[in-house]
Amino acid sequence: MATTLATRRALLAGLGAASALIAAGASQGRPGAGAQLPAPPPIAGGGRRRDVVLVAAERQGLPLGPGGPRLPLWTFGETPIPVLRIALGDSLHARVANRLREHTSAHWHGVRVPNDQDGVQYLTQPPIEPGQVHDYVFTPPDPGTFFFHPHCNEAGQVGRGLAGVLVVTGDEAQPSDDDIVLVSKDWRIGPDGGWLPFETPEGASRSGTYGTRRSVNCQATFARAVPAVADVRLRIVNLDSTRVLDLGIEGGEAAVIATDGNPVSPFPIESWRLGPAMRVDLLVRTPRAGQKLRLIDYSASELYTLATLTSAGQARRRGPFAPSPLYGSRVPVPDLAAAERLSFSFSATSGASAAVLDGLNADDPLAKVLLDSLCTGEQTFWAINKTSWPADGHRALPPPLAVLKAGRSYVAELVNLTPHIHPIHLHGHSFDVLSASRQTLPAMKADTILVQPRERVEIAFVAAPGAWMIHCHVLEHIDHGMMGWLKVAP
Ligand code: C2O
Ligand code: CU
Repeated sequence: MATTLATRRALLAGLGAASALIAAGASQGRPGAGAQLPAPPPIAGGGRRRDVVLVAAERQGLPLGPGGPRLPLWTFGETPIPVLRIALGDSLHARVANRLREHTSAHWHGVRVPNDQDGVQYLTQPPIEPGQVHDYVFTPPDPGTFFFHPHCNEAGQVGRGLAGVLVVTGDEAQPSDDDIVLVSKDWRIGPDGGWLPFETPEGASRSGTYGTRRSVNCQATFARAVPAVADVRLRIVNLDSTRVLDLGIEGGEAAVIATDGNPVSPFPIESWRLGPAMRVDLLVRTPRAGQKLRLIDYSASELYTLATLTSAGQARRRGPFAPSPLYGSRVPVPDLAAAERLSFSFSATSGASAAVLDGLNADDPLAKVLLDSLCTGEQTFWAINKTSWPADGHRALPPPLAVLKAGRSYVAELVNLTPHIHPIHLHGHSFDVLSASRQTLPAMKADTILVQPRERVEIAFVAAPGAWMIHCHVLEHIDHGMMGWLKVAP
């Protein structure tokens, strides 16, 4: 049954009405909060050692698949955006060799790594200079859908494709019938088939610069056969620098089973907003043989089909769709009664730039002059708690935004003082989303949370020792000041 855009919007408007309830802290009615997840089994010892070599280099490639333009991509190997699959308990030994012209690093987004494996240049390691290699060694403590990317010149490096997906298996209490990774990424390709600038002052000072061509798994249109009447897991990764997806399924039933790799009590997906760096795992019940199920992005004025899955073969399941939950989380549970409170406000810099620009129309000639003057040299437009990450990168490390104590519980409020949406990411932790003042969210864990314009979101976590970045994941906002770090003393 197809949902029209109009009925969908009406549905969403209806959902909006419920958000006040959530804002007031009522968690009982929230999907995800009710049913128990099966207790996770102990992690089996004797995991395998998994060696991978990731050679960061420029390679000619086809970001939109065969028939599309050939461009100088920056990739970690011959396959752009590789998918690494390891089992829970395996140790990953990833050797990153840098054959680029500039320094790089690998950050394992969402994985609760020991701090010295977190891949943040100057903060947790020296940058990997051209010609150098760096070894990352860790055993992921949680299964789930993660990804990795450099933490240097992110708009330019990830913009050219430098990233990969890390799947840690071992969370399925009931095995699914198929498992598909779907990476959504737009590319900044110009009319001449070459790269457009990865940053623009118009984008960097507002909601970010959009790509001109969309892709899923480096194909302009992604299609695949799936078993008929089967429960298929979709691991959806938003690798885009800027775009917030609004996901829905047509042609079959679907439930959300994990958010940013963290299990959640399955609930039917109506609409799911997935900002840059966020992941969502869906379990879908595929239709009868010959029929199609589609994953749609409703965010743009024209619907975009992210994936078309066509059922084939014998039916695998009988009876109604009853999505089986993943094993419960192993992430430490924060003690809310004893938690200390933290507050982070996300704003434009107090100087001229962003605050002024917010009030200007981009087509206004005055805005153009102002923007051009701002774009000469690195300009910070954004701040956390009124402090901008310095424009010269991480070399001169600013003081931490807060000093925490390892093992202690914290409730942090994230306050968005801007008219733009910001996907806020905390390194090294999966946090509980406690409340959101302007959206309806289930009780869930995440490592990146969309904070709506003028919204206040509360998260809770048990602090892990180390130096952890907190920043917006719109890549141009990282490069223009909306970043800081927390020091967690042992
Ligand atoms: Cu994917 Cu510092 O982030
Ligand atoms: Cu942002």
